[in-house]
Amino acid sequence: MWHASILTLFPEMFPGPLGLSLAGKALRDKIWRCDARDIRAHATDRHRSVDDTPCGGGAGMVMRPDVVDAAMDAALTEGVPRPALFLTPRGRLLDQALVRELSAGPGVVLLCGRFEGVDQRVIEARGLREVSIGDYVLSGGEVAALALLDACVRLLPGVMGAAESAEEESHGASALLEYPHYTRPVEWQGRSVPPVLLSGHHAEVARWRRAEAEKITRERRPDLWARHTGTETSARAIAGQTAAA
Ligand SMILES: C[S@@+](CC[C@H](N)C(=O)[O-])C[C@H]1O[C@@H](n2cnc3c(N)ncnc32)[C@H](O)[C@@H]1O
Repeated sequence: MWHASILTLFPEMFPGPLGLSLAGKALRDKIWRCDARDIRAHATDRHRSVDDTPCGGGAGMVMRPDVVDAAMDAALTEGVPRPALFLTPRGRLLDQALVRELSAGPGVVLLCGRFEGVDQRVIEARGLREVSIGDYVLSGGEVAALALLDACVRLLPGVMGAAESAEEESHGASALLEYPHYTRPVEWQGRSVPPVLLSGHHAEVARWRRAEAEKITRERRPDLWARHTGTETSARAIAGQTAAA
């Protein structure tokens, strides 16, 4: 069973929305396990403090290394070894490649920061992988952890209905964003479903979807478009080399 341990000051935030819909059903079906752990349970003083003022001065508070380390110890000693991640806006951006990698493993241990963040020494001592969910600042790592877990859990075997849907969608096998979707009614508020989608001609539908995916990617995400055209070029070059050999 894929095992997610979340170290947080707010364990009651989990599984939260992940207790519903696809992820919730997978939780009940024991495809994955969600174990939210209260960092404060590892505080040692009589005030149960988990944070202290920043060395060098400045605003806010910093989470203490000894308390975080003890919480990490307790989580990591349970079950098989799992990668430990710290959710932070200065981490590498979460993308589908990392989601695929994590969901293919045994699970994750996620450290959620609060206040100004976590003492650097425990991040280094534990070799935590720093991951951000976007270039903006949340008030805590819990919402970031929920986003990461949601993305991983839907890729676990048996969670999504059609096996191919993860390949076809945005950030799937190709670097292309997904084509637009339509359903009934065929006419709605003066807008029609593109006639090709009603033609029953599978090859034409596939061609149209591919062209739309390319157009959307080119217009909205030049970075992904460059990666896609680069991939296509190298794939053609490899095919050419193989044919010539
Ligand atoms: C108020 S933030 C601290 C921001 C920090 N002082 C900085 O400037 O990088 C508190 C916590 O929220 C979490 N957090 C905030 N934004 C995030 C993001 N974009 N991705 C992942 N975690 C985030 C981190 O765990 C962070 O320690």
